[in-house]
Order: sequence, then structure tokens, then C-alpha cells
Amino acid sequence: PRPLVIDTDPGIDDALAILLALGSPEVDLRLVTTVHGNVELPQTTDNALRVLHLAGRSDVPVAAGAAESLVYPQPERAGHVHGAAGLGGVQLPPSPAAVDPRPAVVALAELLLSSDEPVTVAAIGPWTNVALLLATYPEAAERIGRLVLMGGSAGRGGNVTAAAEFNVWADPEAAARVLGSTVPTVLVGLDVTLPTVLGEEGVARFAAAGPVGASAAAILQQYLDRARGSSGTTGVVVHDALALTEAIVPGTLGTVRRDVVVDTTRGAGRGQTLVDRRAVSDSPTAVDVAETVDSAAAVEFLVGRLTGLAAR
Ligand code: BDR
Ligand code: CA
Repeated sequence: PRPLVIDTDPGIDDALAILLALGSPEVDLRLVTTVHGNVELPQTTDNALRVLHLAGRSDVPVAAGAAESLVYPQPERAGHVHGAAGLGGVQLPPSPAAVDPRPAVVALAELLLSSDEPVTVAAIGPWTNVALLLATYPEAAERIGRLVLMGGSAGRGGNVTAAAEFNVWADPEAAARVLGSTVPTVLVGLDVTLPTVLGEEGVARFAAAGPVGASAAAILQQYLDRARGSSGTTGVVVHDALALTEAIVPGTLGTVRRDVVVDTTRGAGRGQTLVDRRAVSDSPTAVDVAETVDSAAAVEFLVGRLTGLAAR
């Protein structure tokens, strides 16, 4: 299995993404680093520990990273989406494991520098930790085999403002630094996540497979209820789980190399990812932007893996 790090702000869909990785034999989850984002850092860190413990994997180290964005504080958290404590109102049992004493960037750098194999890094919260790694341990960052980012949008506008997707909006300066690097990067944005909807029948399948599946379904319940109320649909978008699918099975998404810049101005466009879709780019800083997805297959993959994990 390929070594994998998840940098995350759990977060309902982050929790699903972590479970998906744990249920997938293609990858070996070696480290979880946490970041501010959906809720405050101490909460995202505790949530990451609890999700790993739920799956019987409290052996995976969790190192805490940035508590705030690089330049301007994130305008507001997302407790209204993820629940005040971040996991949809569900209290998972506390983990017996302690937080790794190392700062996230140190843990990441040590792992990258000591690994014989290329490491995949999936960043599914604001990209503050990744930007700090690039700034402080460039020689370690260069060894990232593949950086899979959830965030941004090429043509669908934003989900927090008209222009910005949440993870980029939360720290646009970090996003600019990360997307400006030469690390091999895949950008999994709203273009492919929004059409990929996990429906109630899929949730029911893993809920019935065992206690881990039942807890995952419980975490999703509020989110499902709200989606039903607001749009009449019976499904939820699990953005971060789709990014993990691409990290687990490279090529799941159809990507095109594009030049991407981030709007870091303080106006209405702040946090927008400007993807130049006029041409395929051969610039060293170009990004593989996910533009197409087989949503039905991606949902089936997620449900299948969570069902398998829960049935173990
Ligand atoms: C992203 O924002 C967060 O709320 C989700 O966890 C996901 O990472 C989607 O825009
Ligand atoms: Ca997230």
C-alpha cells in the first residue's frame, strides 16, 4: 500500500474521508495532521482522534497544526454545517491515544524525509499546514509524491461566497502559496464534488453493516436532514471523501493541467480560484484540475468501502 497522510479539519465529510482511507487496502494511513477550519483546532484534533479510535486505529498518530490562517483570521467557522463540535452533533467515544507532541509540519516533514516510497498527502481542510510546510521544510515538501487538495472551483462559483469555496476562502494566502508550488498537485473542487451526492440508500447500507457504519451514518444524519429540508433532495455532498477517492485510486477523476491563481484581494472575489481553462498548461506550477467525474461510481466506491470497513 502507498503511504498516505490526511491533513484535515473534521468535519462531517472529513470523518467519512478518514474512514474511507482506513477501509481501503491501496493506502497505508501513516499520519493525520489537523488544521483549523470547520471548527476550532482543538476540536478538529479531538475529532480526528475519536474517528480513528472508532475504526480501531488509534495507533495512527495525530499531530496538530495551524490554529489560524496565515494572514487574516478565518471570518467564521462552519458549525452551522457540521454541528458546533464538528461531527454532526454526535459524541464519539474519546480516544485513549494522546496527540502527537510534534507540530503538524514537523511530523509531516519527518515522515516525508524518512519514507522510501513517495507519500500521498490529501489536504481536505484549509491549506494552512501545507503552506507552512512549503515555507519551512521545502526539501521535505519536494518529496510529496502527490498532493490531493479538496477545494476551489473552476466553473461553479463558490459555496461560501459567490466566488469562493470554503477551504480556499478560509485561507486564501495559504492557497495561493500551495497552488503556486511545483509539487505534483490534483485539485478536487466543487465542479466534481457537487454532482457527487451520497443518497440515503447508500448511507443505510453501511449503517446496517456494523457499529462503525452506524456511527458514520449518525454523523451524517443532521446533514442529511437539512439537505432534505432545504432542497427536497435526499442526499449529501461529501466533498472530502471524493478527494480521498482520487488519492486512493489515482485517475478516478478526469483531470486537465491548468494554470490556477487564487484571488487574495480583500474584495468580493477573495478566495476564488481562477482556473485558466483556455488552454492546457505545461508550466511547472500547473495543477491537475479535476474536471470530470463518474459520480455514481464514486458513490458506489465510498459506500462499498465503508460497508467493508464496518463489517470487519
Ligand atoms: C469543504 O468545506 C468543508 O466544510 C468541508 O469539510 C470540505 O472540506 C467543502 O467546501
Ligand atoms: Ca474538510
